[in-house]
Amino acid sequence: MYVRSAAAATAAFLGFALTVCGAGSASAAPGPDWLSNPIVYAHRGASAYAPENTLEAIDLAMMMGFDWVENDVQRTKDGTLVVIHDETLARTTDVEQVFPDRKPWRVKDFTAVEIAQLDAGSWFGQEFTGARVPTLREYMRRVQRNQQRLLLEIKRPEIYAGIEQQTLDVLGETGWLEENRVARRLVIQSFSAASVRTVHELRPDLSTAFLGTPALADLPQYAEFTDRINPAHTTINSDWVSAVHGLTGPHGKALEVATWTVDDAATARKVQDMGVDGIITDKPDVVREAVGGY
Ligand code: G3P
Ligand code: CA
Repeated sequence: MYVRSAAAATAAFLGFALTVCGAGSASAAPGPDWLSNPIVYAHRGASAYAPENTLEAIDLAMMMGFDWVENDVQRTKDGTLVVIHDETLARTTDVEQVFPDRKPWRVKDFTAVEIAQLDAGSWFGQEFTGARVPTLREYMRRVQRNQQRLLLEIKRPEIYAGIEQQTLDVLGETGWLEENRVARRLVIQSFSAASVRTVHELRPDLSTAFLGTPALADLPQYAEFTDRINPAHTTINSDWVSAVHGLTGPHGKALEVATWTVDDAATARKVQDMGVDGIITDKPDVVREAVGGY
């Protein structure tokens, strides 16, 4: 499996390199401002170039030189955590062909064994046929093997009771709650403030992020339990970013901002000028080329 996926990733990367680094193009090598530039997060992996939330997508991000990847975590009918964005399996797998009578094909209505049968790659491109919906365990092992870092999103916690503790259990079992990884290689985020608060209360040492754009007046409440506010790029301006930076989070540091989903150079430069700390993107190569982040 890995040989095949690595070959696919290599081919995709070579295509990427030929496209981006053609004769006369600017080098993506880091300049003197490298460390102060925004961190680039490969959204659902390098998801413009490989099927989102697959191991192939994070392998490709690694080969393109990106440390930070983002994913989405949900739960199967029989209680296994899996990495997939949509509430249903229809868009990113062949579930409609394999289980035609199971409409609407919700993740929570399928067992882990059933989901493991699905092809999560061919919808994106023939070269990715055979890619799977990874379990969170499989995914964490691959992030570790790739020496990457993870922005883990708990998706729809309101329909998965207890998913916060269960996610922490898997992270613990796979070695991801050891001090070095907690300090430098893991952030847990959610659109649910309650879920982010729960994670913070269960493991106060972990870094967390709230997905959304709270009103300025509400920001101090968020600073009690989250280290970052991660908003859609269309919802922010430099005053809002400065206001977030002016607050101190639960670990005694200024709150940070990583914005999504930025896939073009002009928008990347615009949010960089606003002062964001991170940019979450399906096209990490495009963003790196624009703002010099890593
Ligand atoms: O990480 C930010 C982004 O993933 C939030 O939106 O819908 O892509 O999970 P979504
Ligand atoms: Ca996400």
